[in-house]
Amino acid sequence: MRIVLVGPPGAGKGTQATRLAEKLRIPHISTGDLFRANISRQTELGKLAKSYMDAGNLVPDEVTIAMAKDRMAQPDAEGGFLLDGFPRNVSQAEALDELLKTEGIKLDAVLDLEAPEDEVVKRIAGRRVCRKDSAHVFHVTYSPPKQDGVCDHCGGELYQRDDDSEETVRTRLEVYHTQTEPIIDYYRAQGLVVTISAMGPVDEVTGRALEALKSGQ
Ligand code: AP5
Ligand code: ZN
Repeated sequence: MRIVLVGPPGAGKGTQATRLAEKLRIPHISTGDLFRANISRQTELGKLAKSYMDAGNLVPDEVTIAMAKDRMAQPDAEGGFLLDGFPRNVSQAEALDELLKTEGIKLDAVLDLEAPEDEVVKRIAGRRVCRKDSAHVFHVTYSPPKQDGVCDHCGGELYQRDDDSEETVRTRLEVYHTQTEPIIDYYRAQGLVVTISAMGPVDEVTGRALEALKSGQ
């Protein structure tokens, strides 16, 4: 399957993507995780991305699209993929359409995770991420690690993301409403959007997502 995951910051896209990718046996491709990996390796791309991410703004399309294309061209993505955080505006969605057309493939669904603003703010405030792998995500109250400050999966140190400060979160929410939400209409016109509530326990949301993807609604 080829799926795009969309939803406000903190809705649980990364959390759900890890589970869905495993169940559907497709790679989880997160542009946010790719940028964070570049930041920790201190690459040129990482340095550029960090300045935008810390302010809560989108990284410029040119570098983002090139990075996403590169990742999608890897052999493990041949049979399908779950895109998390890409596309994030209409021009990225158009670039993705262009790429898929060239390859002669199509998206199967755009899964839209809905969560109210007060909930996503709570989720982001308590989020702790692993320094070794930012796909290892915890929450101080909702899904605490077994040992304080230590990743259950790899023993890495848990930290609060630089862009999870209250002020940056406000900007990220605004960017989501103005730049990312329009892609939902863009994909709705293609009949691809499946909307589910991201509220409730993580496993319940995963079940809801799998059901919705199966029935296409
Ligand atoms: P990115 O990393 O994509 O961040 P985001 O979209 O803001 O989303 P988040 O990672 O904040 O949240 P999430 O929905 O994945 O939630 P999570 O599962 O962690 O992007 C970061 C930045 O990179 C952007 O601002 C931009 O600068 C740049 N960028 C990335 N892609 C780009 C692109 N395409 N173009 C340009 N720039 C780009 O969950 C949140 C918390 O809630 C966790 O603590 C989790 O444990 C908890 N939680 C999850 N589910 C539940 C539940 N059901 N109940 C209770 N708690 C839950
Ligand atoms: Zn870890």
